[in-house]
Amino acid sequence: MNRRYAVIGNPVQHSRSPWLHTYFARQTQRPIVYAAYQPAGSFADCASAFFAGGGCGLNITLPYKTDALAFADSASAYARQVAAANVLKRQADGSIRAYNTDGSGFLRDLQRLGATLSDKTILLLGAGGAAQAVAHAINRQQPARLSIYNRTPERAQQLAQQCGGSAIAIADIADERPAEIIINATSASHKQPLSYAPALFRQTQLAYDLSYGTAAQHFLRQAASAGVVQCVDGSGMLAWQAALSFALWEGVLPSVAEAIPHLQPH
Ligand code: ATR
Repeated sequence: MNRRYAVIGNPVQHSRSPWLHTYFARQTQRPIVYAAYQPAGSFADCASAFFAGGGCGLNITLPYKTDALAFADSASAYARQVAAANVLKRQADGSIRAYNTDGSGFLRDLQRLGATLSDKTILLLGAGGAAQAVAHAINRQQPARLSIYNRTPERAQQLAQQCGGSAIAIADIADERPAEIIINATSASHKQPLSYAPALFRQTQLAYDLSYGTAAQHFLRQAASAGVVQCVDGSGMLAWQAALSFALWEGVLPSVAEAIPHLQPH
């Protein structure tokens, strides 16, 4: 019988998770089915019904990652550290365990790109959920410096305190603190794209946007026109977080490289 998995989010219709997991299942010849649910009521009701009906695991996307952690009976150290879960797994004893594969998905994608974080100066733009998901993973790689800039400075300060980086002001990022790697974790490009001074990128080797497709283009175009050679969107991170979820559930890590080109918007 097919093992059942699903993603829960709101909105969920644009999620690429069903496609990715179906692709991985075919590739690894695992008998799974994967659905997408937008809860009519609470996250907990939706997740309870899924697991009560025999579901084996869930991916969780916005805005339910904190609810998912609260729902679980236990959680991995990283999920607890970032206070959010993007994976739930029903264990052999029936209990539900929470994981977060966003940070490790990001690191795996950097590996794919041949980029390392250790001893690098890194600037993280944004301090919301997406930034939080990667900030701890970045700091574990022992960068020379992790600076965090956010429109609302208090959120940058809070994240910097939690993950060991330092919060900086807009004046510092423009003038005194060129970074070798700049990661855009703001959701601004979905609404009003932000413009940065070209000087921001003057020592930058890699510009990485955690979003993908058109949402990433504004930031990446700015970086490219300021001379950054490697400008990359988050489709690799998306594929990796899914592959790592699949590995947690099914015990086999699918091959990610072939999936990434398929994630561009159609
Ligand atoms: P997500 O989970 O996608 O990160 P979020 O938690 O709402 O969503 O965070 C959105 C991030 O984008 C925040 O860092 C936010 O800055 P604030 O903390 O100041 O709100 C940032 N952001 C969104 N729109 C922005 C804009 N127009 N200008 C600057 N930053 C913006």
